[in-house]
Amino acid sequence: MAKVKIFYGTVGGNTQIVCRKVMEILEEKGHEVEMKNARFVLEEEHKSADINELLNCDLVIFASPTYGQGQLEPYFEKFLASLKGVNLKGKKYAGIGLGDIRYHREYLLESAHIIESFCNDAGMEAIIPSLKVIKSPLSVLDTAVSAWVEKLNEFLQK
Ligand SMILES: Cc1cc2nc3c(=O)[nH]c(=O)nc-3n(C[C@H](O)[C@H](O)[C@H](O)COP(=O)(O)O)c2cc1C
Repeated sequence: MAKVKIFYGTVGGNTQIVCRKVMEILEEKGHEVEMKNARFVLEEEHKSADINELLNCDLVIFASPTYGQGQLEPYFEKFLASLKGVNLKGKKYAGIGLGDIRYHREYLLESAHIIESFCNDAGMEAIIPSLKVIKSPLSVLDTAVSAWVEKLNEFLQK
């Protein structure tokens, strides 16, 4: 059994839906999973406890939709910025990015790329390629999302 922490940002709820599915499947496999909305983590009384848990878990999942012109969801962006002084070297992670072709095509799914480059710069280790969800996640929960979690689980079983 592995300890997994999911930190996410959301405006309209799509990212939360994806994270909840990821959590449900991992829990069915026997892992201990906790989801945290970046918005609430930023409240100072929670932040240090959450960062401690992040440092102590086996895998951290970062998830954000893309907003503006290729930006992270604002609370999640602040949350990542708040991790800048934390030593994350060697920490295993997986990223989830959401986007939609109806918005700026040149920034399609940019959130996944921003998460990857933040983690890369911090010396974190990607265990599998990021999950990228375009448009509504509902149609892919039982296909692409579930298949991605199966791959995560293969890693967690090792
Ligand atoms: C104002 C606005 C700007 C957006 N900009 C982008 C973008 O630059 N690139 C992209 O891939 N998706 C963009 N999107 C699409 C969202 O990332 C997508 O709808 C996502 O599923 C929303 O997730 P949430 O419901 O968790 O907030 C934008 C959506 C809105 C409303």
